[in-house]
Amino acid sequence: KTVYLADYLPYSHLIDKVDLTFRLHPTATRVLARLNIRPNPARKDRDHLRLDGEGLKLVSCRLDGQAITPTLDARSLTIAAHELPVGAFTLETEVEIAPEGNTALEGLYMSNGMYCTQCEAEGFRKITYYPDRPDVMSRFKVRIESDLPVLLSNGNPAGQGQGWAEWDDPWPKPAYLFALVAGDLRAHSAKFVTASGRPVDLNIWVRPGDEDRCAYAMDSLIRSMRWDEQVYGREYDLDVFNIVAVDDFNMGAMENKGLNIFNSRYVLASPDTATDDDYARIEAIIAHEYFHNWTGNRITCRDWFQLCLKEGLTVFRDHQFSADMRSPAVRRIEDVVTLRSRQFREDDGPLAHPVRPESFVEINNFYTATVYEKGAEVIGMLKSLVGDQAYQRALDLYFDRHDGEAATIEDWLKVFEDVTGRDLSQFKLWYTEAGTPRLKVEEAWNDGIYTLTFTQKNPPTPGQPVKQPKVIPIKVGLLNPNGDEVVPTIMLEMTRAKQSFRFEGLAAKPVPSILRGFSAPVVLERKAPPEERAFLLAHDTDAFNKWEAGRALAKEVMAAMALKGAPVSPAWLDALAAVTFDDTLDPAFRALCLRLPAEDDIAQTIHAMGRIPDPARIHAARREMAGALAIRLGEGLSRLYRDLDDNAPFSPSAAQAGRRALKIAALGLLSRRDGGRLAASAFARARSMTEEVGALSALLEVGQGQAELVSFAARWGRDANVMDKWHALQIAHAEPAEAAAVAARLIGAPGFDWKNPNRFRTVIGALAANHAGFHHRSGAGYRLVADWLLKLDPLNPQTAARVSTAFETWPRYDAARRKRARAELERILAAPDLSSDLREMVERMLGAG
Ligand code: ARG
Ligand code: ZN
Repeated sequence: KTVYLADYLPYSHLIDKVDLTFRLHPTATRVLARLNIRPNPARKDRDHLRLDGEGLKLVSCRLDGQAITPTLDARSLTIAAHELPVGAFTLETEVEIAPEGNTALEGLYMSNGMYCTQCEAEGFRKITYYPDRPDVMSRFKVRIESDLPVLLSNGNPAGQGQGWAEWDDPWPKPAYLFALVAGDLRAHSAKFVTASGRPVDLNIWVRPGDEDRCAYAMDSLIRSMRWDEQVYGREYDLDVFNIVAVDDFNMGAMENKGLNIFNSRYVLASPDTATDDDYARIEAIIAHEYFHNWTGNRITCRDWFQLCLKEGLTVFRDHQFSADMRSPAVRRIEDVVTLRSRQFREDDGPLAHPVRPESFVEINNFYTATVYEKGAEVIGMLKSLVGDQAYQRALDLYFDRHDGEAATIEDWLKVFEDVTGRDLSQFKLWYTEAGTPRLKVEEAWNDGIYTLTFTQKNPPTPGQPVKQPKVIPIKVGLLNPNGDEVVPTIMLEMTRAKQSFRFEGLAAKPVPSILRGFSAPVVLERKAPPEERAFLLAHDTDAFNKWEAGRALAKEVMAAMALKGAPVSPAWLDALAAVTFDDTLDPAFRALCLRLPAEDDIAQTIHAMGRIPDPARIHAARREMAGALAIRLGEGLSRLYRDLDDNAPFSPSAAQAGRRALKIAALGLLSRRDGGRLAASAFARARSMTEEVGALSALLEVGQGQAELVSFAARWGRDANVMDKWHALQIAHAEPAEAAAVAARLIGAPGFDWKNPNRFRTVIGALAANHAGFHHRSGAGYRLVADWLLKLDPLNPQTAARVSTAFETWPRYDAARRKRARAELERILAAPDLSSDLREMVERMLGAG
């Protein structure tokens, strides 16, 4: 059943108070709910009371103490209007649920003997009968009865004894922020005092034995709390803040009020088990969930169409935080790489949807790169357009005006309009229209006047054939031919389909640096000669555009090689060599420059040129480029490697991570020349997981590393999150013709727990990410992914639906591949009892075929 934004209606009633009692049992948990209810004055009609509920066994139901028999169906409990008292009343229900059998990991479920919950978006209805929608906010009190030693819920502790604990959350919240955890857990604890002097107990709860892997997450949490006070003026508002690490979890983490629940892979870290990327992700996700306390919890969403209200803003805030903690330039580049590889890819295919969608079948299918990542970019543009000071005033007003409310994108834009006096109706198109705008640039130089003329095209997307011009903030700088900057960064505000901007008083025709800092999520289609790209890579003062020049060049080279067998461009090799050996540049930046574009990105580029990408040729081109680069960089690589291979004691700092990244990039290239000799010794000497994985990856890439795979497994076989790396690496480096077979062998291995979402995503996700392997002309990649989606779907529809996006690019490819992909999608669709989650995804993917 499809839900539409246009159909929004406030709920019929208000819930003033919720009292919940849980009598935990693996197969027969009892949930008692007492709801204090009254009619919603915002609704003039006298409606019946309809509560959501799925998979619940109703034991009893009382209205103001009197047993009643409500109307039940598979999705709800209803009490007719004429059976309800005129004013306020109390409804008590008791239901039975079976957390142990809950493989969907939604609602109350069990993971390694621990009880935990995931309620966003609509999981609370699997716990008890309730209006499971974000605009119904209430005060929750919770009593947990269980013999397990640690019993947690939202808010502040309100008492505990042998076999029970009570929790009281003073802040009204929607049901999706409810959480409960019970298990044999150990805490890594710390104290925090807020700016206004409130002491807060911080705990990270993990399985016994994992306590010594929590320090980095705790440090990240404390820095996040301080940062939100300093930058946004937002303080924490409870006496305790708990984080729990869970091994079976569908997503990354969840911001439940005062009780964040995390996928264990985003909490646990030690130098020997976590890579530098893991550390960076942990820091970002800890911050993200913490920041939700204000942007999401204190101010929540009126309905799920407004998801980007909390997610776009919270991603934007976690990006700002990471930029402040690390290198802003490096963070920006990494964020744009992710945006392009995930969101542009989504926006360019059959699953394209607006940042604020207008309809959905299953809301879990809309926790997407578009809602999150593009949602954050839209806020970045808004900030650029109004300026930093107005942004801050608008945010202050937002928190002031909407604290305690369930708000909308209209509310969000209104605070900016009120603060600046600007009309944001055109800007709002970024929320309502899907698709990545294409921006063309032409330059003219006449009598000392330099003109840049931009044309924007907004391509059609499913359900949106025609689009209007958007407001595009284009940050531009101009350089002199000698490399000096003559016009420092200014922002051009484009509002029309075609628009020119003039620069006067220049002595010579400048070289433009356009879209600095990636000031808008658009595809810049500027034809520039390789010399100009090389010039910008050497001279641009904007770190993002400096990197972007090299990246654009690399993409052009790879595309030309794949399309017409062009040779590796010497201009690219020379430019990259200059950057690689420029010791004045940040090692992390140089490592990013050495990372070649992904094959899927090149397929995206070729598709945008109106051509059909050939995965095998793209794969060969990328390899050839890497080989040529290894030769061009020559002996300098060994020197670089030796210089970076120091004995400093491990720190997860951005500076040290950057040195490691460059060292590993050098190692990877060196392996192409020495057949992996140096990498083998680097593996043996590795003092961190980053180095271990880096060396192993370098070995696998040149067809070596079998012995190292064995020793890695011997060392880490008991640590499933670490073994995910072992699985992913083998699939990532498998030859295209073998990738599906490698993935099949790993996922089918005895004892491999494919029902765990991390495991499933690792193997199937790695196969989907092996571009030439997944799209191999044999069709084996498509078939294997479809087989396993069908296998997982009956158990865990949410994760099956997410992983199915592997297929979202299928319309790009040639007729033979399209035919095979379509056949697999149709096979999925034909399965009996397919979940509505996976059905919606597959139908949308087929729709644009
Ligand atoms: N709100 C969470 C976050 O962004 C995501 C949880 C979504 N879960 C889901 N099943 N849809 O941090
Ligand atoms: Zn979030």
